[in-house]
Amino acid sequence: MNPLFKRIFRKDKLARVAVERLTEPLHINLASLFVAGFGSFRCKVDFDLVIRPQYAFPILRAADLANEWGYKRLTLLEFGVAAGAGLLNICRIAKQVTKVTGVEFRIVGFDTGTGMPEPVDYRDLPEAYAAGDFPMDSERLRENLPANCELILGPITETLPVFLRTVGADAPIGFASIDVDYYSSAKDSLAVFADSPEKYLPLVPVYLDDVGDITVNPWVGEWLAVNEFNDEHAMRKIAPWNMLRARRICKNAKWIEHIYGVHVHDHAIRTPGTQTRTRRTADNEFIGVSFGNKPA
Ligand SMILES: C[S@@+](CC[C@H](N)C(=O)[O-])C[C@H]1O[C@@H](n2cnc3c(N)ncnc32)[C@H](O)[C@@H]1O
Repeated sequence: MNPLFKRIFRKDKLARVAVERLTEPLHINLASLFVAGFGSFRCKVDFDLVIRPQYAFPILRAADLANEWGYKRLTLLEFGVAAGAGLLNICRIAKQVTKVTGVEFRIVGFDTGTGMPEPVDYRDLPEAYAAGDFPMDSERLRENLPANCELILGPITETLPVFLRTVGADAPIGFASIDVDYYSSAKDSLAVFADSPEKYLPLVPVYLDDVGDITVNPWVGEWLAVNEFNDEHAMRKIAPWNMLRARRICKNAKWIEHIYGVHVHDHAIRTPGTQTRTRRTADNEFIGVSFGNKPA
């Protein structure tokens, strides 16, 4: 059976399929059947027909932005790997995205390797998570990783500074999934966006897994970590991805709420006078004025 259908018929996924997918208009679901059978990878991403659309959409979007801004290679990150299903999924999606866009990827997963650390205080949501949750078989996982993927084990505060020294403009950070559950670990992970601007795409799509837990609010959990990041970094801001729901075919998907963008306002591409690009024009068909070139 197609792995996507196998997944959606899993007992734990059925409720989500009912709430998010069966509530879409009938013509969208009928078109989806056709796309699932005959559609291109890009079309499947558009119709949420790739396993973990929350990774497929931002990775494809990052590659498109890379082509627009002249990058050939990107680094993709997953903070919080656990058993590694998400990391392997990123690897599979990245392979497809390379075929479609030509952009190559370095993929890096971060985890303690021993499960969740001790929560620091109430902001880490001890009602939901505890030390030792989400163990990993790191040996088995490493055996199954492709050559362009690394697994970095240890507390993120210790491993991140070493990793950041290996990132450069030849493969800037183009996507990150932050799925470390605690406020304290999310804060440690978001430090990845505080280094020099050439280490990032000017706009980095990120997936924030833990902004939706019901006990999360602006004062605890990942939501607090994001707010503090924005307060502490004048030229870097994390904001929900603009108008994403309006731009999607399937509008009821929950993952849409988890996609944010890290805006690197001090990036050279976002600095006046640093770019050479075609002048933008606007034609006026009412009075027959045309500048003869397409908008940049
Ligand atoms: C929910 S699991 C990740 C699930 C995974 N993203 C997936 O989709 O399969 C959270 C993981 O974050 C890791 N983690 C939490 N805090 C960490 C820290 N400070 N340093 C390193 N890893 C951490 C835990 O070890 C755990 O495996």
